[in-house]
Amino acid sequence: MELPEKRIPDQYFLENLSEEQMDGLMAQGIHLVDSALQYQELMMMYNCAIREVRTKLEVLNADLSVRYQRNPIEFISCRLKKPMSLFQKLQKKNLPFSLSAVEKNINDVAGIRVICSFIDDIYAVAAMLTEQDDITLLETKDYIKNPKPNGYRSLHLIVELPVFFSDQKKNMRVEVQIRTIAMDFWASLEHQLKYKKSVKNEELIVRELTECAEDIASIDQRMLAIRNTIDENAESPNTEESLREKLERFNIPSL
Ligand code: GTP
Ligand code: MG
Repeated sequence: MELPEKRIPDQYFLENLSEEQMDGLMAQGIHLVDSALQYQELMMMYNCAIREVRTKLEVLNADLSVRYQRNPIEFISCRLKKPMSLFQKLQKKNLPFSLSAVEKNINDVAGIRVICSFIDDIYAVAAMLTEQDDITLLETKDYIKNPKPNGYRSLHLIVELPVFFSDQKKNMRVEVQIRTIAMDFWASLEHQLKYKKSVKNEELIVRELTECAEDIASIDQRMLAIRNTIDENAESPNTEESLREKLERFNIPSL
């Protein structure tokens, strides 16, 4: 059929639909928007789960900082898995692209990365988090004790915790990756390599990266040993020094 001039085809199409066809079209629209809203709702829930775990980690850091002058956590970053990554992961697992498949099978929709200064802090933070009675530890992958062949090191936890919404309590899963600053430095660069389409001398770069990972692991161990030596060899302060040190610490945390 010829379209009259200066008319938008979609508009012309809509005006010529019967009432029944129009209803069908609206129903399709509702279905589409409903799916989008359900997706948005699920992502909001994962986002809330991230906030709960992030707060737990911040509470631990604040407590240790005030009571023991220790700051095991340098920084925390969070991310929600993007729709494309969800799609690719489901496809890899031969699963349908549906919200229930995401909820049941993808453990890292909600991701938190915790960066510590020292290796022992990684295990201390992991223990303090997973021992909390509303946290269930579902899986641990210790890539520090068992590094990946490329040299990747990090402690991965999959935890589940209840999140309270307006009308329900829902158990949500969160992936927590805990690593040192040096391990994170390495992983960021290695990640860049993975996302480049083709890189000249890739084999050489991969080998170089793996070597760097070994160097970093050794530096992490040496830094820990130095910190322990400093702690062991620090002389106890006299009374005045002690008072000064305590006054120095006297700092009421702001909200
Ligand atoms: P994914 O399908 O990638 O989630 O792997 P997985 O489900 O087998 O879990 P795994 O614990 O091995 O890895 C999960 C996440 O850890 C990845 O999404 C990355 O963020 C990180 N990761 C794992 N291996 C590497 C690596 O070799 N290099 C870098 N840069 N990151 C890695
Ligand atoms: Mg992942």
